[in-house]
Amino acid sequence: MRKVVAFNDNWNFSKNGVDTVSVSIPHTWNNIDGQDGGNDYYRGTCTYTKNFSKPEINDGERVFIEFRGAAMSAKASLNGKELVSHRGGYSTFRADMTDILEAENVLIVEVDNSANNAVYPQMADFTFYGGIYRDVNLIIVPEEHFELLKDGTPGIKVTSKVDLKNKKAVVTVETWHNGKEVLITVNDETKKVPDKAEFEIENVHLWDGLDDPYLYTAKACLSGGDCVSTKFGVRDFEIDSEKGFFLNGRSYPLRGVSRHQDRIGLGNALTKKEHEEDMDVVLELGANTLRLAHYQHAQEFYDLCDEKGLIVWAEIPYITKHMSEGKENAKSQMKELITQCYNHPSIVCWGLSNEITASSPVTDELLSDHKELNDMCHKMDSTRPTVMAHAFMLEKDSPLIPIADIASYNLYFGWYLGELEQNEEFFDEYHKMFPDRVIGFSEYGADANSRFHSSKPEQGDYTEEYQCLYHEHILKCIEERPYLWATHVWNLFDFAADGRDEGGKKGENQKGLVEFDHKTKKDAFYLYKAAWSKNPFVHVCGKKYVDRAEDKTKVKVYSNCESVSLMVDGKLVDTKSGKTVFEFEIDITGEHRIEALSGDCRDEMTIKHVNESNSEYIFGGSGNVVNWFDKEDIKAGFFSIKDTFGDLMKNPGTAAIVGKIMAKASASRGEVAEGTKDNKALMQMMAGLSFESLLKKAGANVISPDQVKSINDALQNIPKEG
Ligand code: GCU
Repeated sequence: MRKVVAFNDNWNFSKNGVDTVSVSIPHTWNNIDGQDGGNDYYRGTCTYTKNFSKPEINDGERVFIEFRGAAMSAKASLNGKELVSHRGGYSTFRADMTDILEAENVLIVEVDNSANNAVYPQMADFTFYGGIYRDVNLIIVPEEHFELLKDGTPGIKVTSKVDLKNKKAVVTVETWHNGKEVLITVNDETKKVPDKAEFEIENVHLWDGLDDPYLYTAKACLSGGDCVSTKFGVRDFEIDSEKGFFLNGRSYPLRGVSRHQDRIGLGNALTKKEHEEDMDVVLELGANTLRLAHYQHAQEFYDLCDEKGLIVWAEIPYITKHMSEGKENAKSQMKELITQCYNHPSIVCWGLSNEITASSPVTDELLSDHKELNDMCHKMDSTRPTVMAHAFMLEKDSPLIPIADIASYNLYFGWYLGELEQNEEFFDEYHKMFPDRVIGFSEYGADANSRFHSSKPEQGDYTEEYQCLYHEHILKCIEERPYLWATHVWNLFDFAADGRDEGGKKGENQKGLVEFDHKTKKDAFYLYKAAWSKNPFVHVCGKKYVDRAEDKTKVKVYSNCESVSLMVDGKLVDTKSGKTVFEFEIDITGEHRIEALSGDCRDEMTIKHVNESNSEYIFGGSGNVVNWFDKEDIKAGFFSIKDTFGDLMKNPGTAAIVGKIMAKASASRGEVAEGTKDNKALMQMMAGLSFESLLKKAGANVISPDQVKSINDALQNIPKEG
């Protein structure tokens, strides 16, 4: 019989080889400095040491150690002898300790998250936490046992092919072991075979997404008593370039969110409890798909996706910057991801890379590395397509795109730059250019800090109200485009990006629909809940926007009910019928209790009329949100910041002004201006954007409001020809 023993307690942790503290696994050394901003979190090698007595074992038994996640690289030695080394921070790896074990043992694990040019990720918008941050186990098995070493394999692999019409399935179970023969059981049928068996299931119970995520179990046992088992689901899916995703023969538009795993205070050192809490948030939202970005997530979470019926995009951290030395690591991380996650019915695709052209040109090496990775995926798994998430500036006809089976794009028009309408314009143009290519919306989002509020929300103001407006626009866009095979909000949760310092919080990306505590939901969360969840509710937006310096104020309610009534101080003001978004306008004079009602559903808030705007609602106090010009402020017939970057660069007079500003803005972001100019795709993309939107992206701390005014004044002196 196999014994799995938790090995998480009584580890000694040392950062500098001197000071040692006792820790338990899961553990990360960056849970504080990796989240407080400044991008100065500790990246280096730390040492975990564990003294332990040899476990009781019978003759012939073997003792393996299993690491579920050690970031980003690990080297373990036992009693002074090298045991195992592993590069990649997100996958399981194991080692056979048997022949090195003594009565008393010293296990030393050096874990390293330092910068390098060979292990992904090295450049990305999230903190690269270091540590043994997922469980460690001892696995004690009989001499005859299933494979444990190769790519962290589960030792058993299940492939099911379903005949929907006749409601039957053929299930193939493959096993890897050092025995002679194996007993494999599926659905109460057992076969004795060398290593592989096929089973027919009549009247098969399908794994049918959120509605019915039915799971079977495949179990394999060797004569010596070692057994392994895995749950599996029988489902069929197809992806049509016009009609999108189909599950078990029916249209099943994938509409959901992305998840980063980390949390405030814990970093990425999570237990089952946190994974279950995250899944509860996903189920409340009503999403039917998750992009588990940007790396292999914990097995516990893929298991939850199987059990609850989420459709998953899994990926490796081949991200932002291509590294010539990184090819083997990208391949080994992908090999481990597929080997370890193949049996999960929730996973439908393998993500090769994310925005890999954001900081790297499309070279022959980049293309050939992707082709190799793509071919490896297909060789390892003929049942799932590959996908890539592309950066917004990658040309639609780039040779990189057709390498993977599916192309998805990360677009941020209406947040970082450009206008909201450019999102649908982009996809409609792409779809028209390539009607036979499957396209998706792999990322979109806007930052919001729930401290900031405005009755006149503006792009870049970090208010909840703007985040709501942004997502209302995109929700309509994705509802109207069934050809988008999958769409994922970036991100379900705020997460640590220690290099960031914006929107009033250091070290955080605040595009989450839920804050970094994974508990506090922002108003925009309820927009998607209203669109996707079947559980009736009403949500009054703006609870934290208490002080209203206006005589009339808007009250927005998100609900999946068909009509909503609004009460002010106990009196019915209005009842509206509609879908998802219900907007009211009320007069306010003092303090008012606002209630939204629909059937048994109700929600309320208290707001009050004030004479002066509450400056705490504005990011950075007053004025940091640049007061932009209204159209009427602009002198017709002369250039202004309202003109596109492309037009302004065509006129020598305006180009002189604009070119200098862009150089200043790029330099502030650590980008080399020349790099921008050399980046044809980026320049092409920027050409169509108003200079005003580019200035917003640069940020008020780079181009101050006064500078914006003087730039506009200078441009306004230059007449447009003709
Ligand atoms: C990119 C990237 C994400 C990042 C996001 C953002 O698309 O893929 O990792 O967090 O943009 O800027 O918020």
